[in-house]
Amino acid sequence: MEIVRTVAELRAWSRAERGRAGNTVGLVPTMGALHAGHALLIRAAATGCGQVAVSIFVNPTQFGPNEDYARYPRTFEADCALAEAEGAHVVFAPGVEEMYPAGAASFVEVEGLSDRLDGKSRPGHFRGVATVVAKLLIAAEPDRAYFGQKDAAQVAVLRRMVADLRLGTGVVVCPIVREPDGLALSSRNIYLNAAERAQALTLSRAVRETEARVAAGERRADVLLAAARAVFAEEPAVRVDYIELVDWATLEPVSTATPGTLFAVAAWVGATRLIDNSIVA
Ligand code: PAF
Repeated sequence: MEIVRTVAELRAWSRAERGRAGNTVGLVPTMGALHAGHALLIRAAATGCGQVAVSIFVNPTQFGPNEDYARYPRTFEADCALAEAEGAHVVFAPGVEEMYPAGAASFVEVEGLSDRLDGKSRPGHFRGVATVVAKLLIAAEPDRAYFGQKDAAQVAVLRRMVADLRLGTGVVVCPIVREPDGLALSSRNIYLNAAERAQALTLSRAVRETEARVAAGERRADVLLAAARAVFAEEPAVRVDYIELVDWATLEPVSTATPGTLFAVAAWVGATRLIDNSIVA
């Protein structure tokens, strides 16, 4: 597996690979601190594409001024080992100045969507995500890019961006990977102490509660949301950011859950903000 640091090297590699008859390139954009959720994305890319690049870049523009950019876990050696073991051919690990050259003044704004769900409580977050993913897709020119359903609002923003900018990349979404007790895998779970780790299960409990009610035939958003709120009420140490039932394409609230509707939660467990979700079957 090769490690490349510049956009020019990544683009040259991708163009050479895509130039080979029948070959395709998959890109797995990440911020590193790779876990089994990322491993699933890399495996899916290795199954679906002839060649796979994994980008590892902790993107400063998607963090707010008081967020965890500085202390975000950076585990480059272990990340490269995992990427290689799961079938990656290239790791793209640029420095900040490679992605944001001095004087950089161009950003991608997906209007409307970027102000909903996580975008509401993290102003500027989705502008940073859309900007860096656009740069990565322009650099790597992949046939397909792989993202986790865990960041469901991010998926909505990126699908819109890829369609609007006619980037031509297929967006593949892979399922949430959970710990045996239900906690959705996240690079931020590392921040949780033992008590918080237990409290964090409230999010997946609310997801399961909603899934069970939907499976039993309940479709009214107000009833489903009230039941999810009741789950959070049992764990007052966890501070809810949002509990929403929305159209997955527009992130606008719905009054009735239908197949494809997104049920999404975000909550603070101590100083750590976690998210979880489920797509109505
Ligand atoms: O999901 C993430 O890890 C990041 O938001 C992404 C898509 C790699 C952009 O920095």
